[in-house]
Amino acid sequence: MNFFHTHISETAVQLAIETLRSGLVSEGARVRQFEQELERVLGLVRPVAVNSGTSALHLALSVAGVGPGDEVILPPQTFVATGLAILMCGATPVFADIQPMTGNIDPASIRAKISPRTKAIIPVHWAGYPCDMDEIGAIASEHRLTVIEDAAHALGATYRGRPVGSLSRFTAFSFQAIKHLTTGDGGALCCLAPGDYHEARRKRWFGIDRERDAASFLGERIYNLTQVGFKYHLNDLAAAIGLGNLPDMPANLARHRRIAETYRHRLADVAGLTHLDYRGDRNSSYWTYTMLVERRNDFVCALRSRGIPVSVIHQGIDRNQVFGAKPSHLPHQRFFDSNQIALPIHVDMTDDLVTAVTNAILAGW
Ligand SMILES: Cc1ncc(COP(=O)(O)O)c(C=O)c1O
Repeated sequence: MNFFHTHISETAVQLAIETLRSGLVSEGARVRQFEQELERVLGLVRPVAVNSGTSALHLALSVAGVGPGDEVILPPQTFVATGLAILMCGATPVFADIQPMTGNIDPASIRAKISPRTKAIIPVHWAGYPCDMDEIGAIASEHRLTVIEDAAHALGATYRGRPVGSLSRFTAFSFQAIKHLTTGDGGALCCLAPGDYHEARRKRWFGIDRERDAASFLGERIYNLTQVGFKYHLNDLAAAIGLGNLPDMPANLARHRRIAETYRHRLADVAGLTHLDYRGDRNSSYWTYTMLVERRNDFVCALRSRGIPVSVIHQGIDRNQVFGAKPSHLPHQRFFDSNQIALPIHVDMTDDLVTAVTNAILAGW
């Protein structure tokens, strides 16, 4: 049994071959079509396709005007990419504590971390469970802060009836190999404001406007850059893979949720094991199934000895030297670091494999 799985549909293989044969492998019609399909199938608002989730985060910070001297509040319970994107702008990451029963940033801790230098908040929807977006949105409006959701795990998740990707000024998704939807590597930045959308499209390709900067008589587009831009666009080969995989996304999401329900139901009363506390007003995409477990090392050894892969996916990133590694008082993050564990959950798991996981846990550790 594998812990993760990369889903590539037969249609994705065929579309990739067709794209290769066409020779049109850079950014073009397939990227545009992929963006339109993300809007149509998943309700994402103005997605700008880019080459990774990290690029999407950095692009959002850049369009929001975050730079040296600014602070950005984020949770430690994430991948280093979230913090690195802030450093890439020359800004300072400021870590707020998490809610111990969800792994998501705690709005009360955000309030405590706001300073005159705070410019933005990056809530991370840990494992695909949406953060308290109404509370975070209210704090952001009160203090005039930009919200950039890190939704790398949360494609297909909903919050109070609305899709993640339609809630905040910016939302960043990842289409890296083991996500619900993959393009090989890739990502998308959703922008609620049309102005941000146009700026993001320009900045993802060096700062040159491919639609508006016309070609000169001599051939090259006429442009005069006033700001740094990036080479962050998705290419048509990656978009072809995404387009081929996208029709399977609703079924894949449903399968993740079904497996999660089974884990919750069959493992409801296991001593030493606590399920995360998810509210009914939002729907997790269940990219991972994270739980809290007592005597974690014993649990990991017992499960592995029975052929079941279990893993910690990311520990709090605040302890990395690159972020300053200052001893910060984040008791809930430290609790999560000591107790979190994730079970395998992916579309290649049959019902028999799910039963094998629950039986192995019910046998004790
Ligand atoms: C929470 C989180 N944010 C951002 C990223 C970065 O995404 P990518 O690998 O597509 O750059 C990841 C990694 O996949 C992640 O788990």
